[in-house]
Amino acid sequence: MSRVPLRSTVVEATETLAAAGVHSPYTDAELLAAHVLGVERTRLALVPMLTPEQLAEYRRLVEQRATRVPLQYLTGVAAMGEIDLCVGPGVFVPRPETELLFAWALAHLDMAERGHRPTVVDLCTGSGALALAIAHARPDTLVHAVELDPVALKWAQRNSDRLAGEGDAPIALYEGDATDPAVLAELDGRVDMVVSNPPYIPAGAELDPEVIDHDPHLALFGGADGLSVIRPMIGTIARLLRPGGVVAVEHDDSHGAVMAELFDAHDGFLDVAEHTDLAGKPRFITARRMPTT
Ligand SMILES: C[S@@+](CC[C@H](N)C(=O)[O-])C[C@H]1O[C@@H](n2cnc3c(N)ncnc32)[C@H](O)[C@@H]1O
Repeated sequence: MSRVPLRSTVVEATETLAAAGVHSPYTDAELLAAHVLGVERTRLALVPMLTPEQLAEYRRLVEQRATRVPLQYLTGVAAMGEIDLCVGPGVFVPRPETELLFAWALAHLDMAERGHRPTVVDLCTGSGALALAIAHARPDTLVHAVELDPVALKWAQRNSDRLAGEGDAPIALYEGDATDPAVLAELDGRVDMVVSNPPYIPAGAELDPEVIDHDPHLALFGGADGLSVIRPMIGTIARLLRPGGVVAVEHDDSHGAVMAELFDAHDGFLDVAEHTDLAGKPRFITARRMPTT
């Protein structure tokens, strides 16, 4: 069998994915082609033909994507900030909307003036996305990350080891419960920033097959109202932060008002502020631990 043109193969794959209900069929068809060819998506035009082996591999991946396996499980990578994270079955795929919280964290670390290395804690770290992206962007920080699920923690460890091998500062990973009143007790009152993208979807919410059939449910759902992890986690955050330390927590778009109420109701937080995503929906909340007087 001779080589076949890439363009018509991508068009055919786009039709297959669209018929399967994939939300971004053309993008996914191109990203899978880039993965098979080992090039950036923007350089696909430089590889106009596929070998028979490449075609077979491409068709195999398109078929899997058409069954709604997440794109990132097929390519094996997801991005956060400047880093790529290895992902696959058993770990939550980092989402683009979390980049907003990440950008806030970096801007805040830049603004803050301290006489010490900033300590950052990522609660519910999953693949290590926020923790490792912060450690990469700010090598002067000391980053700790907590994850309950041992399978997800293995992905975080793998990502941490790989990035440390490429020269990033290592992060400290802990298997633990972010709602445990004793978690990271050795850091009580010493943390400059807490970031978290915890499970927050209310039980029973309608989700795409990529999400409900593949993301671990421990990563998605926060009990009946979506707040079963966030509510007790606020106590952990209050305990860990030093006076004047800051926090950012991603949440469900239906939780903007209730998140502000939860932080306002807890003793010792100031400057509680809601932040919207690119669609204008409430997406994450920030607050500051009251400085001592
Ligand atoms: C929505 S995922 C986010 C993962 C990562 N922060 C990200 O943005 O890609 C939530 C993560 O929290 C973990 N998790 C759930 N409950 C937890 C708890 N009580 N303590 C610590 N981690 C928890 C899940 O296993 C999952 O990895």
